[in-house]
Amino acid sequence: MSDARAAKTPITIAKVGIIGAGQMGTGIAHVCALAGYDVVIFDINEEQLKKCVANIERNIARQVNKGFVAEGDKQAAMTRIKTGSQLPILGDRDVVIEAATEHEETKKKIFKELTPHLSAQALLCSNTSSISITRLAAVTDRPERFMGMHFMNPVPVMKLVELIRGIATHDTTFSAVRTFAERLGKNTVTSEDFPAFIVNRILMPMINEAIYTLYEGVGNVAAIDMGMKLGVNHPMGPLELADFIGLDTCLAIMSTLFEGLADTKYRPCPLLVKYVEAGWLGRKTGKGFYDYSGPEPVPTR
Ligand code: CAA
Repeated sequence: MSDARAAKTPITIAKVGIIGAGQMGTGIAHVCALAGYDVVIFDINEEQLKKCVANIERNIARQVNKGFVAEGDKQAAMTRIKTGSQLPILGDRDVVIEAATEHEETKKKIFKELTPHLSAQALLCSNTSSISITRLAAVTDRPERFMGMHFMNPVPVMKLVELIRGIATHDTTFSAVRTFAERLGKNTVTSEDFPAFIVNRILMPMINEAIYTLYEGVGNVAAIDMGMKLGVNHPMGPLELADFIGLDTCLAIMSTLFEGLADTKYRPCPLLVKYVEAGWLGRKTGKGFYDYSGPEPVPTR
């Protein structure tokens, strides 16, 4: 097909591939399977794949218990999910969503290794929360079929998907992905391709400032979180939210803002850097601004 025709032919998505069985990949697979899509989850770690499927089952069960999802729909969704640790398993997908770690070189390596296995028509999306879509697209053989599809955590609960075009993204790619996001029951906002897009451009400096507030001794963990929960009606305090997102991810996003916009106002707080260096990454490692080893989270400062 000529480039001009390809740019105008509508694209249909039925088979979805997801790369990365972590927190975000798990949530994305969950909402896709419940919405009726055939889902394949790829991860190099077989153990992580097992955990991912168990977490999807547990999280859909939460929705069944609340009466949002019928038990039969849960069963049907689970039968739509397959997993694998070899890239050819993604060969027949209409779209592949990359949800690997927030590290540019890792993402580029994945896309380079993935593309030879895909059909020429397959779309590629990255769930990156901050990295340039244009730069990621440029390492693939299909920048016109590539875009950002940024889900929020926890994916089954949060209503937003941020859509980001790279410089080369075709309109047909954008329309197909927007329709796909809407069929997942999400609202979409469109962001230009600048570091951290819309949501994290605003959210991460607030979280970073909360960490500076702690670092400079203005308040302790409990005071900062309670201040923002009760004072501004945020569902979680900024430090609790940082632990929930993952402190490594928060640092990666702040670093992208700092380097990408070359403005010292985005300087990652040294205390955030120290926590990440210590391996205190938040909930996923059992310790961050809170210690999660007991029945209730306990502030660490
Ligand atoms: N799957 C399915 N359902 C889930 C779920 C999951 N993974 N996690 C929570 N839920 C459901 C629960 O069943 C519950 O349902 P009801 O409201 O019907 O009771 C509901 O969500 C609330 O959950 P909980 O009762 O367990 O806990 P909560 O009331 O404290 O809410 C929360 C939890 C929804 C996470 C809420 O605290 C919240 O909205 N926090 C802020 C989250 C946020 O800001 N996310 C964005 C992070 S930024 C991001 O993702 C971008 C990035 O790139 C970093």
